[in-house]
Amino acid sequence: MRRNLVRMVFAAGMGVALASGAEDPLLFPKGAFTVETKAVKASKGERKVTYRSYKHLPYVAKPVDKDYQSLDVNVPVEVDGVAVDASQAPILFSIPVGGYMAARNGGGGPGGGRGPGGPGGGGMRTRNTDLALAAGYVVVIPGVRGRNNKAADGTNYGKAPAAIVDLKAAIRYLRHNAGVLPGNVEWIVTTGVSAGGALSALVGASGDSALYESYLREIGAAVASDRVFGSADFCPILDLEHADMAYEWMWGAVPGRGGQLQDQALSKQLKDAFAEYQASLKLRGRDGFGPLTAANYDQYLLRMYLHPSATRFLQALTEEKRREYLAANQWISWSAEKGATFGFAEFLAHVGRMKSLPAFDDFDMKQPEPNEFGNKTTDSRHFTDFSLRHASGDPKASIDAEMRQLVHLMNPMYFIGQNNKGMAGHWWIRMGTSDAHTSLTVPVNLAASLENRKKNVSTVLYWDAGHGADEDAEDFILWIGKITGFAGGK
Ligand code: DHB
Repeated sequence: MRRNLVRMVFAAGMGVALASGAEDPLLFPKGAFTVETKAVKASKGERKVTYRSYKHLPYVAKPVDKDYQSLDVNVPVEVDGVAVDASQAPILFSIPVGGYMAARNGGGGPGGGRGPGGPGGGGMRTRNTDLALAAGYVVVIPGVRGRNNKAADGTNYGKAPAAIVDLKAAIRYLRHNAGVLPGNVEWIVTTGVSAGGALSALVGASGDSALYESYLREIGAAVASDRVFGSADFCPILDLEHADMAYEWMWGAVPGRGGQLQDQALSKQLKDAFAEYQASLKLRGRDGFGPLTAANYDQYLLRMYLHPSATRFLQALTEEKRREYLAANQWISWSAEKGATFGFAEFLAHVGRMKSLPAFDDFDMKQPEPNEFGNKTTDSRHFTDFSLRHASGDPKASIDAEMRQLVHLMNPMYFIGQNNKGMAGHWWIRMGTSDAHTSLTVPVNLAASLENRKKNVSTVLYWDAGHGADEDAEDFILWIGKITGFAGGK
């Protein structure tokens, strides 16, 4: 009965399930803002933005730690002295997570997420949010629990799936406040870099999944939809339970930074497992490429992504600079008609392997990922059968049902595979070709699985760019305007 009532209220679009007279702890405090200004550099010159800044709003009724489970909202009111109306504008939801670490809301202290000067991502994240404000969009930045959150008694409280649960709760908070909070809650576009990019993809893929319900209820999340309109994923570190396999498929035959090859027998086992996994996805490449397999993936990457990327890069250079680049990179063939061509092995040698084996669920559990899959009392745990078997010495060991479920709850590929109804319709996927933090098959499988489900997907690999690259930030902001049809604030 109560459940029906909640549903009815929700269906009526009010999104607030409270007995009348009770105070709503999740009501957006419309009047509690400060007015701030900032200068935003754009290709057409500097733009002066005046905006309302709402800070540190708890987005759940029963926070575990409100320093993390709170968000900031920025609402533009004037751009270059001209009033803008953001009441129906798109909402850019910028996820400040790096390395699956906690992102503190309210600034200061440890775990502040990615600051503007932080490694790979901070600068570009603030650039995207600044450009969004200048375009008249509302910007939301949530705090998020992460793998390094520890209570005074040593209990961990931010391990998987806390980050995605918090992000969903923050989205629900926005919907709960539809019509009160400026911006169109049906036009939420998420963005993030690396682990943040993976979480952005996960928010986009897992919208309204019932699998998170008990976690959301536990923290007092608003009863509302958590689906989003679009998802922008920069160098997303996702599909973690298959990422070691994908890494060996790509990097198995390439020496690491110290010049040493990884254990070739183990590498081959993982590479073989990748072939099986890739076949199980049953993906088709774009433009009539046909089934995408471990055997033809190098050709797919070259043809659809790497050759076009190098070609665009070289075309944009002056003739003199192009000649210089080609002289320094003789493994690349160039012709005005065909553009850049090269082989996959030469490309790999150019970039170089970054991580050791296994790249994510490493045997010593020193990488971020086993730590992300810890629990309240255990800091790090294996999350793949391969590494568990190696660590335990039991060739038949396998991760338990609870871990299997956790791994699904953290993987957008799982929800795309299930054809989750609440998936976002619009996707922006970007990664640098010199970013060896994960296999290029990871973002490209994400793109292919969404294309195969007829989503609107824009995917670009930036030539020679590293981790966290964002080379077409203004195009991203225009893209949001295009997919939403929002015309205000230009
Ligand atoms: C990030 C980078 C990694 O190499 C990784 O394994 C996880 C996260 C990051 O930059 O967020």
